[in-house]
Amino acid sequence: MASAAPPDIDRILFTEEQVTARIREVAAEIGEKYRGRPLKLIAVLKGAVFFLTELARALEIPVKIDFLAISPFRGSAPGMVRIAKDLDDPIQDEDVLLIEDIVDTGFTTRFLLQTLAGRAPRSLAICTLLDRTVRRIVQVPVDFRCFEIPDRFVVGCGLDYQQLYRNLRYIAVLHPEVR
Ligand code: IMP
Ligand code: MG
Repeated sequence: MASAAPPDIDRILFTEEQVTARIREVAAEIGEKYRGRPLKLIAVLKGAVFFLTELARALEIPVKIDFLAISPFRGSAPGMVRIAKDLDDPIQDEDVLLIEDIVDTGFTTRFLLQTLAGRAPRSLAICTLLDRTVRRIVQVPVDFRCFEIPDRFVVGCGLDYQQLYRNLRYIAVLHPEVR
């Protein structure tokens, strides 16, 4: 059984069981779409790593994984990011699935999509654990998503508040006083 939630947590949105069950469903959808073709999963460090590993283990098609890291340009407008650590390998002619922890305003996802599309993958799609469409500013095509969430800051399953709480096995809303 999970131990008591930390004091900064307001309420649990999705339990560990709900998250695991939903990831299995989405993995089945993905397996159906790619039908045995090898798939390259690409995640952005660090938030999406937890989701990537759970999704990868639920997939029954052959998968490869790679990672990149981004960091904001200091003092710049929202969504202005740069690549801090690039992929290890090219993605040319591969079926690529970009794995996101959350698509919020859409700025980060759009940057990543443009960057990856420029490298001539065979196909490029997005799979996100969480989708907060109410805050979307730029439109991005979300091909697979586990959960739509309300306009509240959440932690757990890879998502952090000041680098904490990534390891929570559930998705929780942070107390409004904390943030
Ligand atoms: P964007 O606004 O769609 O560009 O999202 C940028 C990034 O902000 C996400 O990849 C997350 O790392 C972070 N983020 C957005 N909303 C939350 C949240 O509710 N909890 C934790 N991190 C978040
Ligand atoms: Mg963060």
